[in-house]
Amino acid sequence: MPEILRLGVNIDHVATIRNARGGHHPDPLRAAHLAAKAGADGITAHLREDRRHMTDTDIESLIAEINLPLNLEMAATDEMLKIALKHRPHAACIVPEKRQERTTEGGLDAIGTQNNLMPIIRSLTERGIRVSLFIEADIEQIDAAKNLGAPVVEIHTGAYCDASGILRRQELSRIKKAASYAADLNIEVHAGHGLGFDTVGEVAEIPQFTELNIGHFLIGEAIFGGLDSSIRRMRSLMDNARATVTGERSA
Ligand code: PXP
Repeated sequence: MPEILRLGVNIDHVATIRNARGGHHPDPLRAAHLAAKAGADGITAHLREDRRHMTDTDIESLIAEINLPLNLEMAATDEMLKIALKHRPHAACIVPEKRQERTTEGGLDAIGTQNNLMPIIRSLTERGIRVSLFIEADIEQIDAAKNLGAPVVEIHTGAYCDASGILRRQELSRIKKAASYAADLNIEVHAGHGLGFDTVGEVAEIPQFTELNIGHFLIGEAIFGGLDSSIRRMRSLMDNARATVTGERSA
């Protein structure tokens, strides 16, 4: 039975635009409220070590003001752990982070960094924060996530979105296998990175996914048609794709 598919709207790049000029506009909190009205099931925000988009104040405002679950993306560092434990978001997605990268390039090495990850996952879990590990569609990484006791993994869809032709088919097949493998281990499976209107459908059809986290494309598309419209269209593409699996196509 396919799971319900939630949409987590990542609002980092509202802050990127705001920070280009300083000041308060556009306000990520306003975007979060709008996303909720447009059909988002959750808000995702990445507090980076260099604070290039979201700031500590943004996270405080989101925690205080939004009614949707907040998924805090964070690097596995002491600083971020402290912040997460203080704010207690609904979920924390642990991501790899390099200062020089433009965006999160590739998944976490849950095998090679397990000694660092273990106490962080334990502390977050003890505070009632649902931990997910952002990993590549790789069976060994999923095994490592299971051994670390992570209840959720988020599969990196960036390589699939960037590829074309036969390579895209191969990436999709890797993602399908990983989603099925993780679900068989009773790990909840999410997906995200790089998804847009033309790529979301095939990913949404994978029945094991329960959540997609999407940001950059939605904020970019909002320039042309507005944020409400870009989120509603994404939501409907996701819902219709999932309905092809359940047989309940929506209007
Ligand atoms: N999921 C995770 C773990 C991410 O790091 C990101 C990017 O911040 C996303 C989803 C959203 O990716 P995009 O902005 O490309 O939609």
